[in-house]
Amino acid sequence: MRKQILAGNWKMNKTSDEVQEFFDTFRNRVNQSWNQVEVMFAVPYTLLAYAREAANGYATILAQNVHYEDSGAYTGEVSIAQLKDSGINGAIVGHSERRQYFAETDEAVAKKVAKLLSEKMLAIACVGETQAEREAERTREVITRQVLAIFAAAPAVDHLVIAYEPVWAIGTGLTASLEQAQEVHSHIRGLARQHYGVEAADSLRILYGGSAKASNIGGLVAQQDIDGGLVGGVSLNPNEFADMIDTVTG
Ligand code: PGA
Repeated sequence: MRKQILAGNWKMNKTSDEVQEFFDTFRNRVNQSWNQVEVMFAVPYTLLAYAREAANGYATILAQNVHYEDSGAYTGEVSIAQLKDSGINGAIVGHSERRQYFAETDEAVAKKVAKLLSEKMLAIACVGETQAEREAERTREVITRQVLAIFAAAPAVDHLVIAYEPVWAIGTGLTASLEQAQEVHSHIRGLARQHYGVEAADSLRILYGGSAKASNIGGLVAQQDIDGGLVGGVSLNPNEFADMIDTVTG
């Protein structure tokens, strides 16, 4: 039985005061069964320590990126040792915004995954096709390429989570239909089966992301191969995010 994950991705939002406010509301608002799902928030580097303290055990705090080298002349980057030093045990890698705006390649994503897993840190590795790729019926090909690059870097699925986020659905209000989402999730699990075997593939959590919210998360997680959500916009609001937890745990 795979434990579901609801992970918020705050992107480049919030300041320390807002973090405190968010978690004050969130901790009071969540239902008693909130911990039936794994609740996580990926926050900007400057907020990692604040968020960890303010969440007070109600959520795991993750970074939104990490560098694969141990240390050195990489201006603007943060290492795994530095994350650990802030009490952080995982990161999102390969988000489509990083791929799109910061030229992150499959190769770089793979190196980050390999490094995180070698340190027994959680890696939420993102994949997803653009609108043009979907229209050109290249979804399967693109997802296969991205996922196999990640799997090649991951000796096992322990500490690995895949997030399928169709780029055209991120921040647009468009959500993949349940069928579209399940089809890709099932394809990803099939690739995992070929790569790691049936048992490991069955334990791999695959999250959906792209305009996920309380009104659609229930239908999504009811799909056989969808194990939770990676949530952008809605995760900025503690009440709306708690509504999503209610739906999933309800
Ligand atoms: P969204 O973002 O929920 O605002 O579409 C999802 C994401 O980018 O992870």
